[in-house]
Amino acid sequence: MADITFSSFDLLVKDRRTVKVAAMNGAIIPNQEIQNVLELANWAPTHGKTEPWFFYVFTGDALKNFGKTHAELYWKNTSEENRKTTTYENLEHAVDNASHLLIAVMKRGDNPKIPLLEEIAATSASIQNILLGATALGIAAFWNTGGMTHHKAMKEYLNLSEHDLVMGLLYLGYTDEPKKVGIRNIPMSEKIKWM
Ligand SMILES: Cc1cc2nc3c(=O)[nH]c(=O)nc-3n(C[C@H](O)[C@H](O)[C@H](O)COP(=O)(O)O)c2cc1C
Repeated sequence: MADITFSSFDLLVKDRRTVKVAAMNGAIIPNQEIQNVLELANWAPTHGKTEPWFFYVFTGDALKNFGKTHAELYWKNTSEENRKTTTYENLEHAVDNASHLLIAVMKRGDNPKIPLLEEIAATSASIQNILLGATALGIAAFWNTGGMTHHKAMKEYLNLSEHDLVMGLLYLGYTDEPKKVGIRNIPMSEKIKWM
């Protein structure tokens, strides 16, 4: 604890930025660092100690194959009049510059006292832990919910049960681009009411 001050934590939280995969450079993150940030996920708060978070990890050939699989899921589950070759290709190549992909899942436990909302909240907190850990390690991260993320075909591909949810595709990598300035449009003062 001695090394952690509010000001160092404040810097870390505000330094975290979304970096899209197109801005990543293809360099590979050591698997041990991925393991270390995943360990942080396990320390999110969890009502009823259900620990509902689960992560599929893709890298190397598995990552390349996921790009193709994602594109195929899109193609098979989109009507002929709506599907576009450009979308297929974008999904296939969405992984190209990333080092790893984590598919973040909320696995619904069997404790009926814990509302779904709270399992989603706990999993979101675990994802934020990952994003902050990545920031501390100089890893670029992109929480993406595009493509087939929320489609039932994605759940089937991952062998999830009906009540589980895919919370996002977390692309991780490195970037050569300067960090973007963070933008918040609504001042915090408008989101606080002291009672
Ligand atoms: C649940 C969730 C889903 C998101 N999905 C996408 C997405 O599909 N595409 C995208 O460009 N950004 C996505 N983002 C990232 C936001 O665009 C980003 O957080 C926002 O622009 C603020 O930028 P910052 O993360 O750098 O502070 C998502 C963020 C969250 C919390």
